[in-house]
Amino acid sequence: MVIFVVVTVLVLLLPGPVEEPSSELPGLAEAHGIKLGVAVAVNPLAHDAVYRDLVTDHYTSVTAENTMKWQHVQPERYEFDWSGPDLVVDFAEDNGLSVRGHTLLWHNQQPDWLAQGFFDADELRAVMREHTEALLGRYEGRIDSWDVINEPFEENSPELRENLWYQTLGEDYIAEALWLAHEVDPEAKLYINEFNTEGGGEKADALYELSSSLLERGVPLHGIGFQGHFVHGNVPDDLAENMQRFADLGLDVEISELDVRIPEPVTPEDLAAQADEYQYVLESCLAVSRCVGVSVWGVTDAHSWIPEWFPGYTAALPFDEDYAPKPALGGMVEALSRNSRRAKR
Ligand code: G3I
Repeated sequence: MVIFVVVTVLVLLLPGPVEEPSSELPGLAEAHGIKLGVAVAVNPLAHDAVYRDLVTDHYTSVTAENTMKWQHVQPERYEFDWSGPDLVVDFAEDNGLSVRGHTLLWHNQQPDWLAQGFFDADELRAVMREHTEALLGRYEGRIDSWDVINEPFEENSPELRENLWYQTLGEDYIAEALWLAHEVDPEAKLYINEFNTEGGGEKADALYELSSSLLERGVPLHGIGFQGHFVHGNVPDDLAENMQRFADLGLDVEISELDVRIPEPVTPEDLAAQADEYQYVLESCLAVSRCVGVSVWGVTDAHSWIPEWFPGYTAALPFDEDYAPKPALGGMVEALSRNSRRAKR
């Protein structure tokens, strides 16, 4: 009998399973009237039930990390592969999630026939129309916002990036693409999506001037995606102020690709501080009247783009490589629990 009591007491003293923040996030996000999103990859979405559960348990929106990009959608001219995009959109609809369309015009991940096509202006306009009509047309009414223009500026400069579109069509390719997207899907919210513009600075100022000029011309620009690929310890301290000025132009804003990369070796102190950074980003969104959402750029650290692109950095997301929640997830819960709830828009 004594042994039974001792064992019982010991079992009771054992640490229980890591308390995963309950999946209160979707309800909290919806109460604030914001999307809480995540970038998803086709393969784990198709084959990994735990991955899918993390998405549906914690988020209200998805972005296709790669499968809606030109190289995957139209790998050869007039040859479209809808398998990946359909999987993402069907999954979202089956689970009541919204979809951020990503992305139309970008300098990266172009198929060779486009990147090396040497099209003249009229030919490139025809190519742009074919792709936009196919992609936005297929998902009309099923995808509520599109990153029509991705990363139009140089890396750390206020200069427009001399990408294929700029070189062939001139600066007004941006307005042309937005008008075309609006013609194909008049209901979709059309975004410019950029990085290194989350806080103030000359690149953010240039994005502000571009946005203001487009709006003055009546160009159908509805929102700005501030990507939010941050380095631990260097998250801008003026996120809300910077985003608010775009909101004051009448634009929606969102943090569209949040991750906070940490230099190795990662310590528990780093992870605790990263939680504060995630909390701060969410609170910055809540502080801006027209911030419509925050999306993180990947489901777990095992699926993050960071280690490949930034060797020596890792642990950028709210779930670790074993799919376990990190303090960053609690930081998002804290932000949405602690701050007064805004009326749903
Ligand atoms: O598809 C090929 C596959 O066939 C091949 O076996 C494999 C070998 O490595 O590569 C696969 O391509 C990878 C592609 O993602 C998958 O679509 C590329 O290597 C890889 O470099 C590429 O990285 C993506 C990156 O954009 C490309 O610039 C990342 O996953 C993706 O997270 C990242 O996302 C971008 C956003 O779209 C825009 N904002 C910046 C963000 C980070 O760059």
